[in-house]
Amino acid sequence: MEVLRVENIQKSFGKTEVLKGIDFSLNEGEVLSVIGSSGSGKTTLLRCLNFLETPQKGRILVGGKVLFDAEDKAKQSDAAIRLNRLHFGLVFQQFNLFPQYTVKKNVTLAESLFAKEKIKKEGNYKGYTHLREAYAAIDEKADKLLEEVGLLAKSESYPCELSGGQQQRVAIARALAMEPQILCFDEPTSALDPELTGEVLRVIRELKEKGRTMIIVTHEIEFARDVSDTIMFMDGGVVAEMGAPSQVIENPQNERTRAFLSRFNER
Ligand SMILES: Nc1ncnc2c1ncn2[C@@H]1O[C@H](COP(=O)(O)OP(=O)(O)OP(=O)(O)O)[C@@H](O)[C@H]1O
Ligand SMILES: [Mg+2]
Repeated sequence: MEVLRVENIQKSFGKTEVLKGIDFSLNEGEVLSVIGSSGSGKTTLLRCLNFLETPQKGRILVGGKVLFDAEDKAKQSDAAIRLNRLHFGLVFQQFNLFPQYTVKKNVTLAESLFAKEKIKKEGNYKGYTHLREAYAAIDEKADKLLEEVGLLAKSESYPCELSGGQQQRVAIARALAMEPQILCFDEPTSALDPELTGEVLRVIRELKEKGRTMIIVTHEIEFARDVSDTIMFMDGGVVAEMGAPSQVIENPQNERTRAFLSRFNER
């Protein structure tokens, strides 16, 4: 079943056209990896999908519902964007954990605030009418997520007490806490020492096995080939080639994909 549809996304910064009309769709449980040279627009695409940038043209649909339409300003109110963001989780290259909070609080914070607001306004959050009950459920879920990423024992630690790989795994648990339909990663291992990338990639692989829908911007070509259903090769703000890993990586049709991959193979 199609969960995401992206239609003709165009994004410029001033006169610089960064995304020149991006179209693709993604089915539930599928993993899409986005590869491409530096500056090709990969991060900008993820930021548009997470409503951190506003495209000048195009539409974004999740589960058939139009979340963004460049023509429809009513869909771009702050309140609408806040709700739209809940469909996506984003894990950054630099983890971006809150340094002043424990691991556990990093994972529970966003949902706790959300639950508090809901209960205050609507008297109900997921069937909980008392904040105390909602917090208990949020806490329990955080423990499960931390267990999933292998860090339950570090619940009460602070980010500065963790390795980069551990911090990134907390960031993954935090992104999952809001139960996004689509989890996005922007080069989740490129800020890590090589010996720490394995533990993060392993967690992502496990998420794939559990049927999570994911979009992964990565330079880890081998990993992308193994974990992805589809690979998108971006070049100069367009999708130059897209298809199964066996096509795009093993047997690229596009000259620029071939050139990009051969640079990788030389390393
Ligand atoms: N806020 C911004 N203002 C102006 N230009 C921007 C902005 N964000 C991105 N760009 C430009 O858009 C282009 C694409 O950037 P983007 O970060 O999306 O590339 P990328 O594919 O993620 O590259 P990398 O592999 O290095 O992370 C670059 O030329 C960049 O300078
Ligand atoms: Mg980038």
